[in-house]
Amino acid sequence: MLCLGIEGTAHTVGVGIVDENCNILSNLTDMYEPLEGGIHPREAANHHADVLIHLVKKSLKSAGKRFEDVDLVAFSQGPGLGPCLRTVATGARALAISLEKPIMGVNHCIAHLEIGRKTTGCEDPVLLYLSGGNTQVIAFTEKRYRVLGETLDIGIGNMLDKFGREVGLSFPSGPAIEGLAEKGDKLLQLPYSVKGMDVSFSGILTAALNLHKKGEGLEDVCASLQETSFAMVTEVTERAMAHLEKNEVLLGGGVACNKRLGEMVDRMAKDRGASKFVPDPSLCVDNGAMIAWTGFLEYESGIRMTIDDTHINQRFRTDDVDVTWR
Ligand code: ATP
Ligand code: FE2
Repeated sequence: MLCLGIEGTAHTVGVGIVDENCNILSNLTDMYEPLEGGIHPREAANHHADVLIHLVKKSLKSAGKRFEDVDLVAFSQGPGLGPCLRTVATGARALAISLEKPIMGVNHCIAHLEIGRKTTGCEDPVLLYLSGGNTQVIAFTEKRYRVLGETLDIGIGNMLDKFGREVGLSFPSGPAIEGLAEKGDKLLQLPYSVKGMDVSFSGILTAALNLHKKGEGLEDVCASLQETSFAMVTEVTERAMAHLEKNEVLLGGGVACNKRLGEMVDRMAKDRGASKFVPDPSLCVDNGAMIAWTGFLEYESGIRMTIDDTHINQRFRTDDVDVTWR
């Protein structure tokens, strides 16, 4: 059985094709890059509309498959930016209707977790999901994926990108900040903002920009920004693991590509006799394969959707989903 998954919650549009064993036959992405400033939802959606059909064709070609080989069409139903979600949902509906194949809407955050679980071999992890728009600690408990902690303002990747933009780094800035941080050797004081199980990043962003304006070296500011914000999310993750007595931690989202983050989470896991898992970078970032795989799991567990059920949901909550496949 072949499932074609379309991702498009934010600036990345992705098309992935997977089979029933989660062999990933292709997984292509195309990213909208704003000329200046942040991401404009309407422009990102226009970009997705322009590239989607080409990406579908390219993905089929690289998988060595034809349209007729597709058995199921899955798409990211939310959470995300309205115009982007609507564009991708329209594309998925058109494809499913014209191929006369079933369609399946997928929760984007759960897709990060499911592709990680399948490809890294962990079974029941606490997911630390860190991307541009999202910062969440998620785990399976009482038959649902629950958000145990999250950001109260902006996502951690967003914070890094905003900092990078102000100091003149290219977008997305996470990788450049990581490179600079490696050369930093001074830990500067920044607000450590953990509130219960939640975190917040707007204060640390302002404080880091101020330090830079006052003449602190960019390398030291980047290193301090990483150390402080990563320590915050690691702390909350550890508390979730302790509370739920889980001994696996899984990383997901673009920020999970950061090596220093990996080291810090690894150290925390080892100290408590737990294990850390990180998917391949191509599966950490937003991608179509994770949507395809989760769509397949839903379908296999008996879920069926009509076109009426495929309304997008900008605020699709992780714990809204009835996890019928676990
Ligand atoms: P979502 O829609 O889930 O919020 P997204 O559109 O932000 O996702 P992702 O590809 O998951 O997309 O994540 C992109 C983010 O990851 C950007 O903010 C980017 O700066 C950050 N990032 C990428 N690589 C690194 C890295 N090595 N270190 C830190 N941050 C990174
Ligand atoms: Fe994501």
